Amino acid sequence: MKVELGKLASQITTEEQRNFFSQEMDGFYMLFTRYLDDTAKGTKIDWDRIQSPSQEQVVAYKDIPEITTSSDLNKLAVLKLNGGLGTTMGCVGPKSAIEVRDGMTFLDLSVRQIEYLNRKHDVSVPFILMNSFNTDDETKRIVQKYATHNVDIITFNQSRYPRIKKESLLPVPRSPDAPIEQWYPPGHGDLYESLYTSGLLDQLLAQGKEYLFVSNVDNLGATVDLNILHHMVDTDAEFIMEVTDKTKADIKGGTLIDYDGHIRLLEIAQVPDEHVEDFKSIKKFKIFNTNNLWINLKAIKRVMDEEALELEIIVNNKTTDSGEKVIQLETAVGAGIKHFKNAHGVNVPRTRFLPVKSTSDLFLVTSNLYSLVHGQLVVNPKRMFNVVPLVKLGDHFKKVQDFLSRFKTIPQILELDHLTVTGDVTFGAHVELRGTVIIVANHGERIDIPSGSMLENKVVTGNLRI
Ligand code: UTP
Repeated sequence: MKVELGKLASQITTEEQRNFFSQEMDGFYMLFTRYLDDTAKGTKIDWDRIQSPSQEQVVAYKDIPEITTSSDLNKLAVLKLNGGLGTTMGCVGPKSAIEVRDGMTFLDLSVRQIEYLNRKHDVSVPFILMNSFNTDDETKRIVQKYATHNVDIITFNQSRYPRIKKESLLPVPRSPDAPIEQWYPPGHGDLYESLYTSGLLDQLLAQGKEYLFVSNVDNLGATVDLNILHHMVDTDAEFIMEVTDKTKADIKGGTLIDYDGHIRLLEIAQVPDEHVEDFKSIKKFKIFNTNNLWINLKAIKRVMDEEALELEIIVNNKTTDSGEKVIQLETAVGAGIKHFKNAHGVNVPRTRFLPVKSTSDLFLVTSNLYSLVHGQLVVNPKRMFNVVPLVKLGDHFKKVQDFLSRFKTIPQILELDHLTVTGDVTFGAHVELRGTVIIVANHGERIDIPSGSMLENKVVTGNLRI
């Protein structure tokens, strides 16, 4: 591997570019050697050493003091993880470029939230985007319109690592400018490394910033919370992970554990096969990681200077378009919690976790269930129940383009509990859905729900064309 990486670097003619590339490949090589080490000794956790986290290790949000002062904001920077593509929803570009509401993308909404925060408190919290080579161009195009706004937008790129051939464990790319599908962004755990090597960490510290609020760009509930920020300052915590109560739908998310008296993030990949069911159970592990994280910047600097960072490796198996089996070695940002002092979880209300992973999620956030207030989605006060409806849209709706073409307008769902749609179904304009609605068009059938219809506790099957 080392020789192959050297061959790639030697093809670069300018010294500056070669140095940059070599530094990136050094990061990759370290990850790769750790992977080989792990493969030899195994990565599964010793189940008997796991305890549930104590009350000090996961504090309830309602128990942290409410504050009204905003002076902590002067030391805050906000960062969105924006390296991922929306491939699950059939998008070719960054997920953050999907329009969510009123013609605004995830990026627009996030910028607006920070702009409002800055205006309201008369501060200038910088807004940082960690892009990848997959998302950088499109992201810059979207945010350029904010150049004259009251928000300082900083973008930087995370690492680009070579995909690895599964059989030979050699890098796929044969030249440094090989096609992009031969490279990958190594997960959001790369944040620490990329923040450090890009020089942005030093830049933020030089500006007097001390705290970094990190979240997934698709989590529309991840707004700056002054109480959590102040709690972080108050408790001298170098790392706070927002967790929330697990439901049966969240079985895969990472959870916080006490491991030999230390707090750690446990991901499903580390769980021995015979304990996977325990891991998924909502009784034993009651909370999961929202990936809303508050991290002390000086502490990141310390950990990186000491070269102490060691995040558990997640092996992602893929098959390329040409049918080749490859692996990607990735890490998760939350796994860093074990390196920070006074690190703990805060159990937050579910409203702080509003991710868009599928078009069923997109259906909810584009509907009248929410309204937009300064870039923030708030549940419509007219909704009588405090749980959101359970929505399952079938494969015909899986891609964003198909989803959009199947609704003339997004139905009104203030009184909806449960919606399942399967098969070739379309919706006219101004449809209202209430209670439990199930619509099933079997193979060869099509159902068009007419404009203006109101369906309440209804099962619709067969053929219905308009
Ligand atoms: P993930 O890919 O970890 O989770 O991205 P996900 O959104 O659940 O993925 P899917 O939808 O199941 O495929 C979480 C956040 O981390 C960013 C993504 O852009 C997203 O905001 N991310 C992910 C990066 O910034 N870099 C990466 O290498 C991977």
